[in-house]
Amino acid sequence: MTAAPSGDVAARATAGYRQRYGGEPAGRWAAPGRVNLIGEHTDYNDGFVLPFALPLRTVVAATPRTDARWTVWSELDADPVEFGPADVDEPGRVTGWAAYVAGVVWSLRAAGHAVPGARLAVASDVPVGAGLSSSAALESAVLAALVDVGGLDLPAPRWPRLAQRAENDYVGAPTGIMDQSAVIRGRSGHALFLDCRSEKIEQIPFDLDSAGLALLVIDSRAPHRHADGEYAARRRSCERAARTLGVPALRDVAVADLDAALAELPDDETRRRVRHVVTENQRVLDTVALLRAGRIRDVGPLLTASHASMRDDFEITVPEVDIAVEAAIAAGAYGARMTGGGFGGCVLALVEASAADAVAAAVAGAYAERGFAAPGAVTVVPAGGVTRVD
Ligand code: GLA
Repeated sequence: MTAAPSGDVAARATAGYRQRYGGEPAGRWAAPGRVNLIGEHTDYNDGFVLPFALPLRTVVAATPRTDARWTVWSELDADPVEFGPADVDEPGRVTGWAAYVAGVVWSLRAAGHAVPGARLAVASDVPVGAGLSSSAALESAVLAALVDVGGLDLPAPRWPRLAQRAENDYVGAPTGIMDQSAVIRGRSGHALFLDCRSEKIEQIPFDLDSAGLALLVIDSRAPHRHADGEYAARRRSCERAARTLGVPALRDVAVADLDAALAELPDDETRRRVRHVVTENQRVLDTVALLRAGRIRDVGPLLTASHASMRDDFEITVPEVDIAVEAAIAAGAYGARMTGGGFGGCVLALVEASAADAVAAAVAGAYAERGFAAPGAVTVVPAGGVTRVD
């Protein structure tokens, strides 16, 4: 995985705060990155997802200020970015990583909350561009900070939609609600089973250690190629298909009705997009049933089937992730799949804990043979969601 800057992330946020603004922050808030165990491109189809929060975190050190302005420094940049209400109220005026911060302020204001001005300093161990939701981590840590320092009456279950709106309506990325839900509502030792229509959640125990298992996160290091445009195109295609089928969302097509639904669709590409979403929803339900029964190893084939569906039907994989999946399985993984929006990013491989190093080495070997940049690999367990640090 992309090497994290050295030092404890909360200490780096505090040090950054002191250096930029002088004095001590009023508090520090931390939000994790996430992986998705299964259920890809199902969230914006009102379907099911099963992500979990990672032990890698973004920390925001913050203090309210008396005027309605926001200054934010991040270790990604030398200089802080400052903006006021006029910049916030016009989506698109603040750009780059700071757009996620301005987006949260915009979202809170749009929902009628009196957002305090603030000085913020951000440090992060969540790698940017690896598909681990560094953006949702930033949004959620900033949201938690502003809610706390402003004393806003806003219970955490409402945070995911607000953070999602920051991304959809301010930043302009038409993403679903999965990432923010995992980052905000994740619980240590559990995967988050989320119904994206009702927003009902269930914490599913996912104890890899006591089963003698490990989940490898392999960073393909593949540069995101046209990810934004392709993501939006997939979403449009799903929404068009739902309209053709006369259902509110593809969630409403059951696997048992899939053949009949496919017969109503106009072209092969749309049929394949729909087949991915409908079968992926079922794979989430099947995975949850296996985890409830304590059969973690048996989840492997569902992961691999999910990958094949993303590769062949949804067409969101790239050679680097396909090779990582193939090599991991050849080296003994129970199953493997790309995680996240696609076109690069990370691959998950479910392995015996004792085989994790060998599987990572096999993937590295397969990359070297093809001349790909060396992949990163770490094992992860589900961690807790957004929290105040002290
Ligand atoms: C990105 C989006 C999520 C989700 C995934 C695909 O991570 O932010 O909302 O759609 O892609 O499952």
